[in-house]
Amino acid sequence: MAREFTSVGVVGLGTMGAGIVEVFARNGIDVVAVEISAAALERGRATLTGSTDRAVAKGKLAEADRDALLARIDWQVGLDALHSVDLVIEAVPEHLDLKQRIFAELDRVCRPEAILATNTSSLSVTEISVATTRPNQVIGIHFFNPAPVMKLVEVVRTVVTSADVVADVEALCARLGKVDVTISDRAGFIANALLFGYLNHAVGMFESRYATREDIDAAMKLGCGLPMGPLALMDLIGLDTAYEILDTMYRRGGRDRRHAPVPLIKQMVTAGLLGRKSGRGFYTYERPGSPVVVPDEHTPVSTGAALADGARAIAKVGVVGSGTMATGIIEVFAKAGYEVISVTRGAEKSAKVCEAVKTSLNKGVVRGKLSEDDRDAALGRVTWSATLDHLADVDLVVEAVVEELSVKKALFASLDEICKPGVVLATTTSSLPVIDVAMATQRPADVIGLHFFNPAPIMPLVEIVQTIRTSAETAATGRAVCAGLGKTGVVCGDRSGFIVNALLFPYLNDAVKMLEASYSTADDIDYAMKLGCGYPMGPFELLDVVGLDVSLAIQRELYLELREPGFAPAPLLEHLVTAGYLGRKSGRGFRDHTKR
Ligand SMILES: NC(=O)c1ccc[n+]([C@@H]2O[C@H](COP(=O)([O-])OP(=O)(O)OC[C@H]3O[C@@H](n4cnc5c(N)ncnc54)[C@H](O)[C@@H]3O)[C@@H](O)[C@H]2O)c1
Repeated sequence: MAREFTSVGVVGLGTMGAGIVEVFARNGIDVVAVEISAAALERGRATLTGSTDRAVAKGKLAEADRDALLARIDWQVGLDALHSVDLVIEAVPEHLDLKQRIFAELDRVCRPEAILATNTSSLSVTEISVATTRPNQVIGIHFFNPAPVMKLVEVVRTVVTSADVVADVEALCARLGKVDVTISDRAGFIANALLFGYLNHAVGMFESRYATREDIDAAMKLGCGLPMGPLALMDLIGLDTAYEILDTMYRRGGRDRRHAPVPLIKQMVTAGLLGRKSGRGFYTYERPGSPVVVPDEHTPVSTGAALADGARAIAKVGVVGSGTMATGIIEVFAKAGYEVISVTRGAEKSAKVCEAVKTSLNKGVVRGKLSEDDRDAALGRVTWSATLDHLADVDLVVEAVVEELSVKKALFASLDEICKPGVVLATTTSSLPVIDVAMATQRPADVIGLHFFNPAPIMPLVEIVQTIRTSAETAATGRAVCAGLGKTGVVCGDRSGFIVNALLFPYLNDAVKMLEASYSTADDIDYAMKLGCGYPMGPFELLDVVGLDVSLAIQRELYLELREPGFAPAPLLEHLVTAGYLGRKSGRGFRDHTKR
């Protein structure tokens, strides 16, 4: 029989604590909510009532249920109020000495059979437990932010946590409507170990002015379908908390430089820019605690006129290539009203591409997203050719041929001879340096990267890659074209992986390393990222879709260019590729797809 939890205590009512109180009270459990001072208690209470009032306003919580929920909470200053609860969850700032002091005190105050839990994100639960005389009743219960919304709980068992305590806590999670994964005590557990290297890297991109905050966040939301961008997430987590988590992970997790907090984080913490909770972090918020972003001096002007400032007029577009990307890009431009010349290496290939574009447009008609007239008009705008010479008078060329530098360079050299002056030459490469293809021409200032995502007609993002030779006019043209296509263009420099792949693939690689180290299973790691961080797919699901060979190639490029030891491809990934386990396309990757 699992233990009955009729009353629990929560210590520390900040970003996490207030949410955890709400989770328990919503599920009919009495809560003693404890803070260090009357003022902090008031702040915690305000956070919770703000959250429940919003739920009522949105129709997600009945008023009577809200009142019943609030009636279950006993607000108190000081730990002594916890003398008769069955379980305590501690959610004070991420400092080991503070948590140890609190646990020693809880050990003295609480009933001998009470379970003592920490919500720590990165500290050792074992080290916290030894501050008590009952380490076998100490456990990690790691909720995700915002606690009332995120489904996942990581249950952290130390080597001395007793099995019945683990089972009781797992049963409690189920009662709270949460999905738990039970793991051992390692820095960052599953989700944070995979998340924080990525967040820190994104802050590094921002700090080095590689891209703007809006563009970094838009890239990850639109390119990967994440619920929020990394900088907005840092603001939600709180920069002080994020700093402590990174610092602990760096020290506990093998001094991986990718966890050494980017200096900007410490500067922002010192300056009081803690994120949402202080009203300002990477973004500025309506007021402290508010989720509403308001414009500030860094907010870009996004009117059409400003976007097109200095841009060249583009009416006629050449698309070179006959693969998936070229096909999608032809459709995108034709639908947006541009005149398109498609150039392939032969009539047969042109016929195939034409067929594929037609099929895709027809799907749009069947789904009611496109009228028959619009489909016919779009097709009428495309001319099919097998000769580059037909690109002599286009305003923009988009190259989407095979991902081989020698082929792309030869093509750009030809385009340089054929195209009229003033044309913008764009490559869709996802991994080669744009400057290499630019230097194959006599006009590197006119060359830019336009990295579309697959499938191009659906994915809303384009990375606009400027080399050190790209002119302001060419860059403005790139931005205007993306706006004309109805896509979100994000501007970045010419580094391996641009924004999205540079942030995404090391995370996927880390997940493989975690699996390889037998810390957890592919299923639990996938759950953790989906239910704890709101990712649309777990890392192993995504790897199998993208292809393990493609992922390995991208990870190798990143490693070679940035020489970051942490980016070294996971040996398991290399072995699976060697074994021919490439993912869905070969029937087997991390999972066997032939049986489903
Ligand atoms: N922020 C996140 O996204 C997140 C997610 C999961 C877990 N966590 C973990 O949760 C814990 C709390 O983080 P947070 O972001 O909520 O921090 P926070 O700074 O927002 O809140 C901490 C609260 O603890 C209170 N406090 C400090 N000393 C206390 C004491 N002696 N007694 C009672 N209360 C005290 C503070 O007044 C404050 O309200 C940390 O261990 C953190 O790693 C954070």
